[in-house]
Amino acid sequence: MTAGRRPPLPLRAAARAVDAALEAAVPLSFGRPGLVVRRALPGWDRRPPDGRGRRVLVTGATSGLGLALVRMLAAAGADVVATARDDARGAALAAELTRTGTPGVTVLPLELEDLAGVRRLAAALADAAPDVVVHNAGAMHAERAVTGDGLERTWQGHVVAPFLLTGLLLPALRRRADARVVLVTSGGMYLEPLVVRRVDSPRGYRPAVAYARAKRAQVELATEWHRRLGPGGVVLHAAHPGWARTPGLERSLPGFARATSALLRRPEDGADTLRHLALAPRDAAIDAGGLLWHDRRPRAAVRVPRTRTTAEERARLWERLVAETGVDPAADPPDGPTRPDWAPPANR
Ligand SMILES: NC(=O)c1ccc[n+]([C@@H]2O[C@H](COP(=O)([O-])OP(=O)(O)OC[C@H]3O[C@@H](n4cnc5c(N)ncnc54)[C@H](OP(=O)(O)O)[C@@H]3O)[C@@H](O)[C@H]2O)c1
Repeated sequence: MTAGRRPPLPLRAAARAVDAALEAAVPLSFGRPGLVVRRALPGWDRRPPDGRGRRVLVTGATSGLGLALVRMLAAAGADVVATARDDARGAALAAELTRTGTPGVTVLPLELEDLAGVRRLAAALADAAPDVVVHNAGAMHAERAVTGDGLERTWQGHVVAPFLLTGLLLPALRRRADARVVLVTSGGMYLEPLVVRRVDSPRGYRPAVAYARAKRAQVELATEWHRRLGPGGVVLHAAHPGWARTPGLERSLPGFARATSALLRRPEDGADTLRHLALAPRDAAIDAGGLLWHDRRPRAAVRVPRTRTTAEERARLWERLVAETGVDPAADPPDGPTRPDWAPPANR
């Protein structure tokens, strides 16, 4: 938690103990009670976020967390670029934002299952690059399918396309003083290890498993990103929103949504940490990069020992993404500003 004024040490210790107890109780932590309690703890920054002067790209802004995040960022004064995969839904979003007096939002097209479209978005942003990219768009698919790029669509949408977009935007991001990239992952990833040769397996497709494997890959990619690119440049984090009542959740997991109905967060609660990572003042944890966040704090990336990932597997992940996109973000040395107060990740 980022504090405006730091509470005394005993209060901070008590807050950490309550937070850790919550973290151990998954339904409470991932559900609304987690955020409600954490917000009440000493050290939670209650000041309104200030997004003035920040340009933030949010993918998947026509629904759920992305829509909530766009509104929250615009309300904080940020200049927002929101993406929509469907032209009609994009136009409806723009009209709705105008109708509700939400200034400073530009809507651009992006379909993650079309890598040429990802390249078009990156080109469209070349002259007005964002300071922050929030890779929020994503879905759990009932059926396995292969995209026009020849890749399994869960894998492409959650991992390959965000990697490509980040890689293409990297030169421009490096020219920003405080550039950040956020991958929106899921607590479901705690159940799956990263096994690169299995991420798009055609055998026995199960939607939740394919989704969790892609979401696990995002978290491991954040670590690998910082190993490859080194400290001091563009930071990349993963964040999981907990369980939020969104059209996507209700469509893909209706039974789960019903069973957890009393616990579900509002979309804006799920988007809180995403806004935090986009706009909060720099601190050691944000500058470290490569971490998994939930409710404004870095969290352990592994809860189940069998899901621990080796350095070799992370390297395989990187090499596969370079091969699938033709882009290697680690290939060119940085030429932009660096972060002198970088500190190593705390929970790795
Ligand atoms: N809700 C939760 O509890 C929860 C929990 C863990 C993680 N997440 C993650 O949070 C993110 C947002 O989910 P949500 O719950 O807000 O879902 P949602 O309501 O379905 O919103 C998803 C957004 O992503 C867009 N999208 C989906 N597939 C896309 C693609 N192939 N290309 C471009 N845009 C695409 C959707 O566009 P359309 O409007 O056109 O469909 C929509 O704007 C996802 O990455 C999800 O995995 C959510």
